[in-house]
Amino acid sequence: MNQIVNVNASWGIGRDGDLLCHIPEDMRFFKDMTMGKTVVMGRKTLESFPGGRPLKGRRNIVLTRSLQKALESSLSDASSAITDLLEGREPKADEDTELIYVDSVERLFELLPEDSSDVFVIGGESIYRLLLPCCDTCYVTKNDCSLEADTFYPDLDSDPGFELTYRSEVKEHDSIRYSFCTYKRKE
Ligand SMILES: NC(=O)c1ccc[n+]([C@@H]2O[C@H](COP(=O)([O-])OP(=O)(O)OC[C@H]3O[C@@H](n4cnc5c(N)ncnc54)[C@H](OP(=O)(O)O)[C@@H]3O)[C@@H](O)[C@H]2O)c1
Repeated sequence: MNQIVNVNASWGIGRDGDLLCHIPEDMRFFKDMTMGKTVVMGRKTLESFPGGRPLKGRRNIVLTRSLQKALESSLSDASSAITDLLEGREPKADEDTELIYVDSVERLFELLPEDSSDVFVIGGESIYRLLLPCCDTCYVTKNDCSLEADTFYPDLDSDPGFELTYRSEVKEHDSIRYSFCTYKRKE
């Protein structure tokens, strides 16, 4: 299983429920890596997406301890699709997108394919930490955004279980410098 994340120099990943910065090349990288795959996230990360909608073209598995509430919000999405139909609007067909809520790691693992190389953990802090022991590759985009974060990723540079196996050249967008890194679990 993989993790994919964007961190600043302090391994900060978010603030007030949003990302610290939006870097177009990193967004494209995230999309290329995860398209057509299974993505695993916490309920707050799902809510941080536009309209609280799942990522298109992917199987979205969302961890929550409140399945009832999650079901209610899914039902309200379904009812807006029905309203679209009744009012003659084309409902948005999206056969390649799936949204599944689970309330435990045990249930999550029942749903994952045996070969988990196509599974990406996409945040936030609580889910990265929860599933890091089950992951062997972490795609980490490092940036030098100076905003103070309120959520963090584990510092892989001081984790003896991981090693940095790839680091791209430093790039720049809107005065934010960034590079793509890969960490792998040591044999
Ligand atoms: N930089 C990046 O690459 C990146 C990526 C993703 C997210 N983020 C940022 O990370 C922040 C959100 O992180 P977060 O840690 O606050 O929230 P999160 O991990 O996205 O979601 C937390 C929620 O997940 C559910 N959950 C957690 N552990 C669970 C378990 N063991 N079993 C069942 N459900 C469980 C709970 O949902 P319920 O409350 O519904 O029970 C919990 O409130 C945001 O700022 C977001 O923008 C950054």
